[in-house]
Amino acid sequence: LKPLDLITGINLRGSSPDSFVRVAEAFGEDVVYEIDAHCRQDPMVAAGSGEHYLKNPDELVAVIRALKAKKVAVSVKIRVGVAADDRVLVRKIWKAGADIIHVDLMDAGVTKLRQIRNSCPLLIIANNAITTFDRMREMLSHGADLVSLARQSDVDTLAGLDAAISRYADKEGWYNSPKQLCRGGDIRALTFCCMPVKECPLIPALTRIGISRDEYVRLKLETVKGTPLDSGPNTCFASLAWCCKTSSPCMFRDMTLAKEGLSKKEYMRRKRELSDTIMSRVFHDVPSDESS
Ligand SMILES: Cc1cc2nc3c(=O)[nH]c(=O)nc-3n(C[C@H](O)[C@H](O)[C@H](O)COP(=O)(O)O)c2cc1C
Ligand code: SF4
Ligand code: SF4
Repeated sequence: LKPLDLITGINLRGSSPDSFVRVAEAFGEDVVYEIDAHCRQDPMVAAGSGEHYLKNPDELVAVIRALKAKKVAVSVKIRVGVAADDRVLVRKIWKAGADIIHVDLMDAGVTKLRQIRNSCPLLIIANNAITTFDRMREMLSHGADLVSLARQSDVDTLAGLDAAISRYADKEGWYNSPKQLCRGGDIRALTFCCMPVKECPLIPALTRIGISRDEYVRLKLETVKGTPLDSGPNTCFASLAWCCKTSSPCMFRDMTLAKEGLSKKEYMRRKRELSDTIMSRVFHDVPSDESS
C-alpha cells in the first residue's frame, strides 16, 4: 500500500497490551493501529477483547498507553450504548493519549455524536449506515471529522461520497462546519454564536464547558483581532466574530464581507480557525474530577 499514497489503518482484536505492541513493532509508524473495542462476538468478548474493553476501560487505557509508548497513531473503535457512560469513556480514551475515536453510532443518531464531540478533542470517525451525502453531512455537521462505511463500501458509493464532499468543501470552505448551536450544533458552533446577551442555548453551553461569559467574549475578540473577522460595524454586535453561518441569509454580514473583499468561502475558513482556537481552549486539559 505504501506507493499508493494512502494512510493505512489496521483494526485489531487483542486481549493484552503486549499483543498490540508486537504488531506495532512489526509494521512500524506508517500505520494507524485501531483497537477493536467494538466486536461483540461471544468468543472474542470472553477472550477479553472487542466489546470487553468498553466495560473494562482501564484495560483499554493500558492498551492505548502501550501503543502510544511506541509513538504510533492510535484509533479506538467503539460502539455507543455499551459503556456505562460514553462521555466518560471517550474522555478516558483521550486522556490515555489516543488520536482517533471511530464510533459505531448504531441507531443512536446525531445526539450521541454531538455528546462525544463535546467531550473530547480527538479526531472522530462516524460510522453506521452512512451511505448518502445527506447522511454524511449530517454526521459532519454534528461533530464528525470523517465517516466510514463497511457494508456498503463499494466503489460507486465511495466515489460518489468523495466527489460530493469535495465539491461541497470547494464551494463552502469548511467541509464539516457545524450547525448553529440553537439548531442542534456541537460546541464548535460557538464560532457562529452571538454575544451572550439573551437567554438562549449559548448560556447553558458555556456553563457546561466551564467558560464564563466574560471569558467567551474576550476569547473571541482577542482571537479575531487584526484579522478580517474584526470588522463589521454594521452587524448585530459590531464584529464578524459574532456573525452567523453563511447558510443563514443576512444582508448586513454580506455587505461587510463585500466591503472587506472577503468571499463567503474565506469567511467560513476564518470561522473555522476561530472555532479551532475555541476548541483548544475548551479542551486544554481533562477536568481533574475525571482524571482517574
Ligand atoms: C462482515 C463484517 C465484518 C466486520 N468486521 C469488523 C472488524 O473486524 N472490526 C470492526 O471494528 N468492525 C467490524 N465490522 C463492523 C463494521 O466495521 C461497521 O462498524 C458496521 O458494519 C456498521 O457500519 P456500516 O453500516 O457502514 O456497515 C464488521 C461488519 C461486517 C458486516
Ligand atoms: S448565541 Fe445566537 S447563535 Fe448561539 S445559540 Fe444563542 S441565538 Fe443561537
Ligand atoms: S449581522 Fe447577520 S450574520 Fe451577523 S449576527 Fe446579525 S443576523 Fe447574524
